[in-house]
Amino acid sequence: MQDVAENIRERRCKRVVVMAGAGISTPSGIPDFRTCRSPGSGLYDNLQQYDLPYAEAIFEIGFFHRNPNPFFALAKELYPGNYQPNLTHYFVRLLHQKGQLLRMYTQNIDGLERHQVAGVPPEMLVEAHGTFATATCTSCLRKYDGEELRPEVMSGAVPRCPTCKGVVKPDIVFFGEELPLSFFKYLTDFPLADLLIVMGTSLEVEPFASLAGAVRSSVPRLLINRDLVGPFAWGRRPHDVTQLGDVVTGVKELVDALGWTQELDALMAAGNSEKCLISENFKTYISKFSWI
Ligand code: APR
Repeated sequence: MQDVAENIRERRCKRVVVMAGAGISTPSGIPDFRTCRSPGSGLYDNLQQYDLPYAEAIFEIGFFHRNPNPFFALAKELYPGNYQPNLTHYFVRLLHQKGQLLRMYTQNIDGLERHQVAGVPPEMLVEAHGTFATATCTSCLRKYDGEELRPEVMSGAVPRCPTCKGVVKPDIVFFGEELPLSFFKYLTDFPLADLLIVMGTSLEVEPFASLAGAVRSSVPRLLINRDLVGPFAWGRRPHDVTQLGDVVTGVKELVDALGWTQELDALMAAGNSEKCLISENFKTYISKFSWI
């Protein structure tokens, strides 16, 4: 880890690719899918209420067309706006601000990588499994902004297209659907990368998981995760580095080794004041309707 930190600090690594999964959002309160934290506390372990044939069905496109209700019940829990980014998200933003992030590839649909202060610009982010930020009518293919669906999703209803009454589905990539075209940026990003950082993922879902093997063999790969996963478990390379344990603790150790602690604290303080500002603005807006 010290060597990785020195290479970043001395700017010998200027094209860092980050791969992330649900484990970077559990510190924000969002359950991951297959957690190793404690058997039974992953999202897939807690879907009994939706009467699914098997857990992954909730993200299968064929099941969705037959019965969209379980997905929208879950969407109400996961919809962006209910959670705040954590230190891990701010670290990636800082890497970008220093001009050393080539691209962030995330499997997450919580949208925290789009956060105004902790997030990264759209062109730096590949949301490989889609996003709640936009949606599409499954019948007439009319496009929607994710915010247009919020009232119906938060009320537990299935969003319907006013044009054709078809079900409007968030642009989440379901099992059985194509990945977004942006995913194929990997074809040039990974050969160019001079450091790969993999955080908070089981590396169990393809084709995302195989990206971990797409960097050149001379390129260091740093895993920050509770447990060994993917090629870090069964096919280690000479320059692989693993920091096992809590992701926030691991990232904080890296940030301290980089000497970026003060800058990160300042960025997180800005993010928190942004959150306060938004809530103050919201209170001011609501206060105008004092008669409610
Ligand atoms: N600190 C460190 N590691 C953590 C933490 C944490 N706080 N929380 C979870 N993890 C680790 C888990 O131990 C596990 O190795 O993160 C990983 C999360 O793995 P998954 O739950 O499988 O999530 P992910 O890899 O993102 O799943 C990939 O599966 O169902 C699909 O589309 C879904 O995008 C998702 C994909």
